[in-house]
Amino acid sequence: MASGEFTKAAQLSDVPHGAKLVVEINGKPILLCNWNGKVFAVSNICSHAEEKLDCGRMSNGWIACPIHGARFDLATGKAKNPPAKQPIPIYAVQLVDGWIEVDA
Ligand code: FES
Repeated sequence: MASGEFTKAAQLSDVPHGAKLVVEINGKPILLCNWNGKVFAVSNICSHAEEKLDCGRMSNGWIACPIHGARFDLATGKAKNPPAKQPIPIYAVQLVDGWIEVDA
């Protein structure tokens, strides 16, 4: 659930294209993902068995869970294949003066 307030999460230069960065905002583990120059903020916790996603492969607008291979759409959080069925939370992102800000 978003707080309605954007919080500085990282500098954009820390998350270049193809990179991921784990941050914590309001106690939530959040994974920043830069895919094709667009920054996404998703939960770092897989909806299947609550493993961390940050070591997973990112490609073509999705991130794969490194444990059992479920893929999640970075824009919507939806699970694209089993074993995950539930989406992961996603958070709104804005870029301000070279900073990535996240509403978490
Ligand atoms: S913990 Fe992520 S797919 Fe099983």
